[in-house]
Amino acid sequence: MNKKQLIEKAIEAKKNSYSPYSKFKVGASVLTENNKIYTGCNIESAAFSPTICAERTAIAKAISEGERKISAIAVVGDSEWTYPCGVCRQVIREFADNNTLIIIVKSIDEYREYSLEDLLPYSFGPEDLK
Ligand code: THU
Repeated sequence: MNKKQLIEKAIEAKKNSYSPYSKFKVGASVLTENNKIYTGCNIESAAFSPTICAERTAIAKAISEGERKISAIAVVGDSEWTYPCGVCRQVIREFADNNTLIIIVKSIDEYREYSLEDLLPYSFGPEDLK
């Protein structure tokens, strides 16, 4: 996996953030098991609740193109370290596995790596419904 490339794509995607209300830009990039990268930014709404986070934008793009497994996801926001919200953690959970890498990006050279288990322990997922 080319981690730097994935991180660069998240940083690039952040520039497209549509966040006139919070003024808080977030970018995300998803690497799929088919080795393709999909990017996303947060998209806000004047009605507020329709707002979608960068992570879910990127995941929706990947899944709607037929992808089903996320190998890695990189996230970068306007705080020093921007971690995925609870809803996004659950959505990552849907398409992740034990090896999925979650990269929280401060800059191209500074980032932290986590597993899904780190960010969403004792989770509920697709297996529970089998
Ligand atoms: N946001 C994301 O896009 N991802 C996160 O992980 C945290 C929050 C967005 C939602 C909203 O547009 C803005 O950041 C402030 O909450």
